[in-house]
Amino acid sequence: MTKYRFADRLSRLGTETAFAVSTEAAAHAAAGHKVYPFHLGDMNIRTPENLIEAASRAMRDGKTGYCSNYGVTELREALAEDINGSHGTDYAMENIAIQPGGKPVIGKFILALMNPGDEVLYPNPGYPIYESQIEFHGGKAVPYQYVEGAETFEFDVEEIERAITPETRLIIVNDLQNPTGAEASAEQLKRLGELILRHDLLVLCDEAYFDIRYEGASKSLASLDGMAERCVILYTFSKRFAMTGWRLGAAVGPREIIDVIANLNVNDESCSNHFIQYAAIEGLRGDQSGPRQLLKTLKARRDKAVDLLNTISGLRCLRPRATFYLFPNATEAMAKKGFSDYEAFRADALAQTGVSFCTRLHFGRPSGEEQNLYIRLAYAGIDVDQIEEGLLTFKEYIEG
Ligand SMILES: Cc1ncc(COP(=O)(O)O)c(C=O)c1O
Repeated sequence: MTKYRFADRLSRLGTETAFAVSTEAAAHAAAGHKVYPFHLGDMNIRTPENLIEAASRAMRDGKTGYCSNYGVTELREALAEDINGSHGTDYAMENIAIQPGGKPVIGKFILALMNPGDEVLYPNPGYPIYESQIEFHGGKAVPYQYVEGAETFEFDVEEIERAITPETRLIIVNDLQNPTGAEASAEQLKRLGELILRHDLLVLCDEAYFDIRYEGASKSLASLDGMAERCVILYTFSKRFAMTGWRLGAAVGPREIIDVIANLNVNDESCSNHFIQYAAIEGLRGDQSGPRQLLKTLKARRDKAVDLLNTISGLRCLRPRATFYLFPNATEAMAKKGFSDYEAFRADALAQTGVSFCTRLHFGRPSGEEQNLYIRLAYAGIDVDQIEEGLLTFKEYIEG
């Protein structure tokens, strides 16, 4: 019982339960145990030095007051140019509102475009904040499934179409996906675009991992015919420039929607942190050796982790070409250890081996029809030698 009368709407607010796994892992480490941190999508890679220097310079130059609620002009111009280069789009700075991180774009998109009672399609398993924000603001969260295919996890455009009702207004698309690392084919994106036009939907394109790619080229739904006027891109500097703790991102989309989001900025945070926006300009326009090295480091970790996971009896792991997540099928491994309950398995593995990971349960409510069991490993916060040591320990635990 609490003595405070909290607002009723809080009963609908979810959270990112992966943070609870971090707390548990930290407690395990504080008790003197070794921990292999595969649980959180944070990085143990430093922000490139030229970005740190640019922010320090901006601070010394007096960029310490408020700036425009849309963000610094030069950054908006640099970002429009950068996105046009990678997406083949035609954005101008008026299509961009800088945000304190990529995450705020989710809630602001929903606040701007969803009325209570509207239905919103979202990926499941998927980033848990979608479900939380849709329901918090009184919408109906309607999941569409990602299922394991031969080379990547996949969604089914026909299943999405079957879930559409007269109340469906919005769809959230997270191609290059957390937690599965999934990537849609050009054909799938095209069919998704046609469906969006047919049903007059607006789209949140969560492109948090657009630039975290090791092979091939990223494609954006927003660059397909007729899509730019229907898509708001969630852009973030967090992963591409190893800036997770700086909190800087952007909403990129049709000018009318961006103006509404910029007004939400005024009401929420006034403006994003002023001087760090100069680090982002340096990131986009300056020396690119930092982001290049980051991809090299992450790719080596991916390969080490996938190779080792696939030697473990009862585990099967795809090799995503993008993101820094792995989503191995652990159905048989869990059965071998006598577990059908995700949390019991996760807690036991942490206690016995120090290997800390999330499970499918941390990524939205499972549908009743899922037959396979999955765990999620992130490799952005753990070095190659620790990946090796941790996964060999995990192998012994599963096979022993
Ligand atoms: C799919 C997805 N979207 C958005 C975000 C938010 O990123 P940030 O707020 O750090 O830019 C994350 C972070 O992990 C993510 O995984």
